[in-house]
Amino acid sequence: MSKYLAAIVATAVSLASSILLTASRPRAFGLRLPRSVLAAVAAGAFAVAANECAGKPVMFLRWSYVRFLFGLRHMGANWQVGDGREQALADYVCAHARRNDIDDVIRAIDEFCYTKSYLINIGDEKGRILDRAVLAARPRRLLELGTYCGYSALRIARVMPADAVLYSIEFNPANAAVARRIWDHAGIGERVIVIVGTLGDDGKTLTALRDKHEFTSGSLDFAFLDHVKQEYLPDLHRILNQDWLHPGSVVVADNVKYPGAPEYRAFMHHHEGAGWHTREHRTHAEYQKVLKDLVLESIYGG
Ligand SMILES: C[S@@+](CC[C@H](N)C(=O)[O-])C[C@H]1O[C@@H](n2cnc3c(N)ncnc32)[C@H](O)[C@@H]1O
Repeated sequence: MSKYLAAIVATAVSLASSILLTASRPRAFGLRLPRSVLAAVAAGAFAVAANECAGKPVMFLRWSYVRFLFGLRHMGANWQVGDGREQALADYVCAHARRNDIDDVIRAIDEFCYTKSYLINIGDEKGRILDRAVLAARPRRLLELGTYCGYSALRIARVMPADAVLYSIEFNPANAAVARRIWDHAGIGERVIVIVGTLGDDGKTLTALRDKHEFTSGSLDFAFLDHVKQEYLPDLHRILNQDWLHPGSVVVADNVKYPGAPEYRAFMHHHEGAGWHTREHRTHAEYQKVLKDLVLESIYGG
């Protein structure tokens, strides 16, 4: 929704709630409305309208974030917000970023997230932690769980060695298509391969990685976990069971504090110095500075 439309809708909601508040027994559509709820809606909608008019300085008051919260149920099932913003991102990148310029594509995605629609990419702040981890590890074969629109893969591809290949696993084919379109625009379509599936899909994806993409014992240098949080630990065990890691392999996990992957964090604490060495990076959730988050960078000891 455009800035003006969002501001007009929010103002209308705020005014309607305020008018209802003046009635002795507020009712709408045959339902009695508690005054406290009406007052909260009026104040919230007013704050959203003012925030939109002021250029969206507060993330939580942006219409795109409020719409994202309304889409959480859809997100939980499909991993898309439900208003077409993922496809809109690909259109935006193709229209506003220079072709074959990976820096400019990353810039355009961050710009879209700050000024148009909020997306659940790793974002610029945590993205720099990921950049540094890849640079330090100098990996040749990388695995990402959770492609979404391909933003973190772009960041990884920008800093990984020229002969490295990133395999990115994505549950939703529509997200994979968005990512492919953006990667092709950035000119990295050859070095990043998206595979639709999950490591828990009864061996289908694990077999494809082994048989088609030559994942062999000790061949995986770097893994980035950024998918469904409850699957971080089970998928790490699936990777370990395949024996793909070698001493010195690095596993980076996003969102360990928010929304949170407590079992994964507990596992890394428990194995500190005994199979794993982990560094916890304190940071913030994507595209804002209020919600705190943790990114874990773990080195496998074998
Ligand atoms: C937080 S987003 C990933 C963001 C992306 N890494 C980035 O920073 O640009 C999570 C993605 O994981 C995908 N996903 C969910 N469950 C999955 C699973 N079990 N395996 C692989 N991908 C999964 C979702 O469809 C969604 O696109």
